[in-house]
Amino acid sequence: MSAPLVLGIESSCDETGVALVRGGELLVDAVASSMDEHARYGGIIPEVASRAHLEAMVPTIERALAEADVDLGQVDAIAVTAGPGLVGPLTIGAAAAKALSIGLGVPLYGVNHVIGHAAVDELVHGPFPERVMALVVSGGHSSLLLVDDIVTGVTELGSTLDDAAGEAFDKVGRLLGLPYPGGPHIDRLAREGDPTAIRFPRGLTAAKDQAKHAYDFSFSGLKTSVARWVETREDAGQAVPVADVAASFAAAVADVLTAKTIAACRRHGIDTLVVGGGFSANSQLRELAALRCAEAGIELRIPPIKFCTDNGAMIAALGAAAVRRGIAPSDLSLPVDSSMPL
Ligand code: KG4
Ligand code: ZN
Repeated sequence: MSAPLVLGIESSCDETGVALVRGGELLVDAVASSMDEHARYGGIIPEVASRAHLEAMVPTIERALAEADVDLGQVDAIAVTAGPGLVGPLTIGAAAAKALSIGLGVPLYGVNHVIGHAAVDELVHGPFPERVMALVVSGGHSSLLLVDDIVTGVTELGSTLDDAAGEAFDKVGRLLGLPYPGGPHIDRLAREGDPTAIRFPRGLTAAKDQAKHAYDFSFSGLKTSVARWVETREDAGQAVPVADVAASFAAAVADVLTAKTIAACRRHGIDTLVVGGGFSANSQLRELAALRCAEAGIELRIPPIKFCTDNGAMIAALGAAAVRRGIAPSDLSLPVDSSMPL
């Protein structure tokens, strides 16, 4: 008998994602994004995102089924993001998932979006070894996870105390006058600048922070420091060397993310690191992670970028893992939780 067919639905932010997974195999991953509608506001507008999910949900489900040549009746289980994320968008995904679960008479699995960002790597690079470290970095999250089992054994070692990595990039992008989202623009500019030109602070790396925040991140002080540096230059009537600012800022973020992650791998004796989330597209992070992992003898697994940004495959992958382990399905009253813990 073949493995159960799991349909995953993701709708926590601006992407409507629907995917089908059977066993460890991804059959289809369909995504619709409302990012273009948000770009002119300089940030995600929850109400606009909710309406876009409402419009895109059924067509995206239909597109996924058609592309995989699968009939709805063949689906064995539904997985859906229960949180964290924007409450309106989450509710629309959950409503669709519940309707499918009731209509088809198949179990429903509410799963955690942040863990999904790590779980998707199993579809790309195969099952995880016994223990892995996962760094999930995006516009909404910066979390360091110790993974003994992707469904039953995920421990959050640390997370951001303020801005996520991508959020800090977007805010610095705004102050440098770059279009939203600023992250990819800073990445590009940084490649032309000198990363050692300005020594920006590395948040929560001082000896006094080690006891309490060894694996937590803070990028808000760094962002303020960049703002002050730029203001001081402008007030003095001097030109701002934008590429050097971008490169020095990006270097500080990549330095902190990789230093803390490698330290956690060493401390816990882990030799496989998975990096996920939309910010893992960042070239400065990729380069430094590759360098430091090679030095430390750690295998680095980063899925292709389409699986790092929000998508349905990550949710279907985690749902399929729950089904494989015989986990009890969620109740149909499954609530969504905008700040869902791990
Ligand atoms: O995972 P994602 O698509 O959406 C969220 O769940 O947040 O991540 C998007 C975030 C944005 O903040 C964007 O600016 C940032 O990731 N980002 C980048 C790069 N590509 C995307 N930041 C820096 N460098 C990049 N190349
Ligand atoms: Zn995400």
